[in-house]
Amino acid sequence: MTVTEVLQLVDQLVFKHRANHLNDLQSKVIKGIWEGQTYSEIADGFGYESENHVGNVSRDLYKILSKELGEDVTKSNFGWSIERLATSLNSSQQIVGIINNHINLCLNTSNGQKQASNDEEKTKQKTSYINLKQSPKISNFCGRSKELSTLSQWIDNPNTRLISVLGISGIGKSALVRYFIDIHTISFDAVIWKNIKLYKSLNSIITEILSELNTNNQNINTNSLLNQCLQLFNQKRCLIILDNFEEIFTNKQFAGQYKPEYQDYKNFLQIITEIEHQSCFILLSQEKCQEMISLDNELYPSHCLELSGLDESATQILQSQDLKDEESWLQLINLYEGHPTYLQYIIILIKDVFHGEVAEFIKENSLILTEDLKSLFDSIWIRLSDVEKDILLEISQHNHSISRDEIRQFLSLSSMDIINGLQSLSRRFLITKSEGNEKLFNLSAVFKEYLRFYQSVTNNPELNKNL
Ligand SMILES: Nc1ncnc2c1ncn2[C@@H]1O[C@H](COP(=O)(O)OP(=O)(O)OP(=O)(O)O)[C@@H](O)[C@H]1O
Ligand SMILES: [Mg+2]
Repeated sequence: MTVTEVLQLVDQLVFKHRANHLNDLQSKVIKGIWEGQTYSEIADGFGYESENHVGNVSRDLYKILSKELGEDVTKSNFGWSIERLATSLNSSQQIVGIINNHINLCLNTSNGQKQASNDEEKTKQKTSYINLKQSPKISNFCGRSKELSTLSQWIDNPNTRLISVLGISGIGKSALVRYFIDIHTISFDAVIWKNIKLYKSLNSIITEILSELNTNNQNINTNSLLNQCLQLFNQKRCLIILDNFEEIFTNKQFAGQYKPEYQDYKNFLQIITEIEHQSCFILLSQEKCQEMISLDNELYPSHCLELSGLDESATQILQSQDLKDEESWLQLINLYEGHPTYLQYIIILIKDVFHGEVAEFIKENSLILTEDLKSLFDSIWIRLSDVEKDILLEISQHNHSISRDEIRQFLSLSSMDIINGLQSLSRRFLITKSEGNEKLFNLSAVFKEYLRFYQSVTNNPELNKNL
């Protein structure tokens, strides 16, 4: 079999499973495995991909192939599994489609030629510039299939100009978008990831993007940066990811208020959503601001994806850490709300103190807060306004969901403060509406534990607001 035949066969199986063709990275990984390269050799060929990441991409592909072929496909039997499949199909013929579990063979060359021209078309669509140096590396990604398909739907729609991926710290925003870029066949001329923490101004980000994509080496005119930027986003289809967007919002005020030195981002977001161009921005943020709010209309150019915890797919995180007592894993995941970072911290604790025995940890019968968890919450706490802190402390005193009227009874705050405070806390994903009754507000059990812990330590009903 030739590499092209192998790629065609795997591509069809993957397409049948996920309705997505192999992306560039996946194709190269398959090619490398077929040619007997190690993960590290394949990774070397990419420059920016780690060996671990190549391993993950291939494991994801083995999983799909195993499901589609009804047998366990691994690195060691990959070649043989594919050859056996091809032989059973008569490998001398061109394989063009697998529909409803039947592998269709094309015996005439015109279809074969069509396939070749499709391949060419695909190559033409290849992204010509990718800079993901400022994105996190993914070592083990699991679940989120619904979110991945939502992103895919939005990104593939040429109307989409702004996507906000939102959620509490550590919930997996950066991991999701990085993984999406790795597995999705992206039809953009350029994909650029910028971590806002590394830049002192919007102008410095725009200038860098312009110089990265300035193929004609034109002088960048600092007086009309925004204009040049818009021209570029119109000429080329760019996907720009702005990570850690909450950096531009001010601390100790309600969510989504721009710091004075970052006011120009507001104008920038309005312009890129209102003015027509062919590029798309993805903002990753722990806080929602007015400019991100979408009108939930398919034709509207902006969308919000709010992340909550992982479902039982999080067992893969536990599996990769060789924890024991599989029957207790779901309990652990539920206890820590499927939050990948909380789980990572707890896994380390279970390995350090409980010899990896999850059941022993569960027997403790309480939510344990590690020092890492406390400092994660400290960094969230420090961003809040006094009104939000008062509301949170009040909610944490109750073992049930609580309504706005109840909060008003217990706190000597004005109605306006309570209403704005509740909206702000939901824009930070710290409170949620009760599923059964939208008038009631809930607090995450883990975060509640943190608030109670500090209250008990300080023995002060007013949690230390200077934390
Ligand atoms: N779906 C997932 N499967 C496995 N691990 C995950 C998943 N999502 C996130 N993680 C892991 O959880 C940790 C936190 O994820 P990530 O950095 O993406 O969170 P974040 O929402 O971007 O946080 P922050 O707001 O602080 O930037 C990382 O180590 C990441 O690899
Ligand atoms: Mg992040």
